[in-house]
This record gives sequence, structure tokens and C-alpha cells, in this order.
Amino acid sequence: MGVTVLVGTQWGDEGKGKITDLITGEYDVVCRYQGGANAGHTVIANGHRFGLHQVPSGVMYEGVVPVIGNGCIVDPQILVEELDMLAREGIPTDLLKISGNAHLVMPYHKDLDGANERRLGKNLIGTTRRGVGPTYADKASRLGLRVQDLQDEKVFREKLETALAEKNPILELVYGLPTYTVDQITELYRPYAKRLQPYIVESSRYLNDAIDAGKSVLFEGAQATMLDIDHGTYPFVTSSNCTAGGAITGSGVGPVAIDRVLGIAKAYLTRVGSGPFLTELPQGDPIGEMLCEVGHEYGVTTGRKRRCGWYDAVVVNYAARVNGLTDLAITKLDVLGCLDEIKICVAYEADGVRYETVPEHQSIFYRAKPVYMTVPGWKCDISGCRSFFELPREAKDYIDLIEQLSGVRVSLVAVGPDRDETIDRHWR
Ligand code: IMP
Repeated sequence: MGVTVLVGTQWGDEGKGKITDLITGEYDVVCRYQGGANAGHTVIANGHRFGLHQVPSGVMYEGVVPVIGNGCIVDPQILVEELDMLAREGIPTDLLKISGNAHLVMPYHKDLDGANERRLGKNLIGTTRRGVGPTYADKASRLGLRVQDLQDEKVFREKLETALAEKNPILELVYGLPTYTVDQITELYRPYAKRLQPYIVESSRYLNDAIDAGKSVLFEGAQATMLDIDHGTYPFVTSSNCTAGGAITGSGVGPVAIDRVLGIAKAYLTRVGSGPFLTELPQGDPIGEMLCEVGHEYGVTTGRKRRCGWYDAVVVNYAARVNGLTDLAITKLDVLGCLDEIKICVAYEADGVRYETVPEHQSIFYRAKPVYMTVPGWKCDISGCRSFFELPREAKDYIDLIEQLSGVRVSLVAVGPDRDETIDRHWR
């Protein structure tokens, strides 16, 4: 399978987990390259359903090596809890590798994430409050602690002291929150350091050696293109590069190693948190409610109800460009099965100008209106279809239209939540 990057093309929750689950077993190594415990992936083991946030989903597949790359951030408390949970379920985790260069989420990052959101009031980002923004901010400010610092308590304490000299006054004087001592956090993190020690590696070297040895690698993106800090709807984004370029910097593997970039797009559109969403259906709209209920559109990490709307081809076309997509997987096509007709946004219009790509200026993006094409629905259950030719004509036309508007071939189509409820057109 070579080296593949898997990315979300919309605002996250495209069903990346389902596609990852479908293809992971074909890879030797699965590496997460950005984000932290803000991502959520539901897995089912021994009849139990649970969410994984830090451990890459590759852990669920025997023989697959899960890697947490240097571009990720690690909340050791959540990671250790997940490792304990996997151990209780009898799922081995001994192959896991964690980059020593990944940054650590500290207790004050979580406090500051919540405090920032409260300060923003109605302008809040709607973060997952997992400390993501403050951790990446400290990484950029060179005030962060890294996973490798867990291996040397002296260095850990020194760096922590420097960080607390800035954090404590902010916590206390700006937000009126409790402060921390070096001893307090060192005590808290010491057991995590001991527990995580066996997993810490130089992951760039590990990955490059694996590729040189002919192993296949799947880079698993979290969040999505429109939540990317550079290419998304800033400031309503996460704090890392979710796009395919992030797989390079977030892993230490060179760009020519990448063979394919698979974009995941939901057959309609959802978003959690704040920020523009041009094709959003208004609260209470019966079609929006239907998409939410039939599509189970509630967040894995926060349980929040997702905002729902029509498929936006402008966004996916943009994602094709900024990620260099070679293939698309369309998910949840079955959810549209009860609609008489389906709208698809083919362009935007603002101030009399038509935009077929995401307008560069945020103000235009905010006031633009979607231009819709209306196509007939198929009005039937398609979850039993296993080949493209079995799909009703209207569903095939819908996929063809998506392909035409994105300029990327649709290689996979998901028609239900189970692994086998998928149509493979060109992937394998
Ligand atoms: P943060 O990543 O927690 O800082 O949140 C920033 C924005 O990204 C918010 O709008 C979140 O709702 C969104 N976000 C973060 N992680 C995910 C995800 O896994 N799926 C969808 N949205 C996410």
C-alpha cells in the first residue's frame, strides 16, 4: 500500500474513523502526525464501545505499529488512562511508539483553554477544552515541555519552572485561577513518566527506517482541512496543520515518500464549535434534524450536537488543492436515503461575484451565500450495495457530480457504519 496520508476535507467528523478502520489492517505502521486528545475515534472491542483520543487507532489491529508523531501533543493522563483501558480489554499496546519531540499538555494548558473560552464570551472558538491551543502556543513560544523531558526529571523541573514563571501570574492575575508549584506537577507527572518510558522513540528515524525497509505507512490526520491553522477558517480552527503537509513536518518523513493522499468527505456537511458554515441548515430545520439523528451527529470527544448542512463542493475542491488529494472517500451516503431531493453547493456568491473556490478574504467568506444545484434523491436504503453499479442511478449521479466538482476520483463510498458497508471503486 506504500505511504498514504488520510485527511479530513471538511470541518472534521467526516467518518475518518470508519475509513481508517477499513484500510488500517493493510498497513504496517499507522502514525498520527498532529493534534492531541481533541480527536476522538470510537472503537468496539469485546462488545464494549469506547473512544480513543490519544492512542492511534492502529492499536486495534494485530501487528500494526501505532506511532504518535512529533507533531502531536500528548496529554499523559489521558494517554495512560487509555493504555490502562486497552490493557483491561486485553488489547496489546507494546508496539506503540511515541515521539520524544511531541509536546506535553500540562495541567495549566487545560485551565487556560477553558479560561480563554470564557474570556471570549460569545466570540468563543468552541474548543474541546483539552488544552490544545495553549500547548501549541507554548511550543511556538519555545516554552513547552516535550515527551523526552519526562525522561530527565532535572530538565523537566527546570523547564517547568521557566514555564510556571509565566503561567502562574496569568492564571492568578488575569483569570483568578489557582496556581501550580513545580513539585506539584512533577509529582503528578512522575508516574506518567515511568509508565510512558518504554514507548518513547526517535519516531522520524523509526518511520524512515520502516519506509526504507519497504513497510507501508498510513499517516492518520485528525480534525480536518477547514480546521487547519493555516488553511482553515481562522481563528475558528484548531492549532495544528491537519492538512497533508502536516504529515511531513509532524513525522519527519520527506514529501517524496508519500504515494497517495486520501481525502475523506461526508456526503453532507457538519461542524462543531463556532465559525462560518455557509451551507448550514437553520436550527430546527427538519432536514438538518434528520441528518443529525440518522447520521448520529454528536461529538465523540465532547458529546456536542453537530451543526448540519448540505455538501459544499467549494470546500472539498479547496481541500483537493491544499492537500494534493489523489483519492476521495465519500462517507455516510446512506444517510441521504430518505430525501426527495438533495442540494449541493457548487459556488458562492458575494457582492455580485461568483466564487468557485474558498474566497481568500474572511469577510467575503462570511457574507457569501451558497449557490445550490438541486438533484433528485434515491429514496431507498442503499446499505446493502457493495458495488458502484448496484447503487440507484440518482446516487451514482450524486457521486459523479462530487467527482466532477472536486476534480478527484471517488475511490471509496461508505453506505453504512460497518466496515463491510463500503464500496471500493478504485482504492485497492
Ligand atoms: P481545539 O482543537 O480543541 O482547540 O478546538 C478548536 C476547534 O476545532 C473547535 O471548533 C473544535 O470544535 C474543533 N475540533 C477539534 N477537534 C475536533 C474533531 O476531532 N472533530 C471536529 N472538530 C474538532
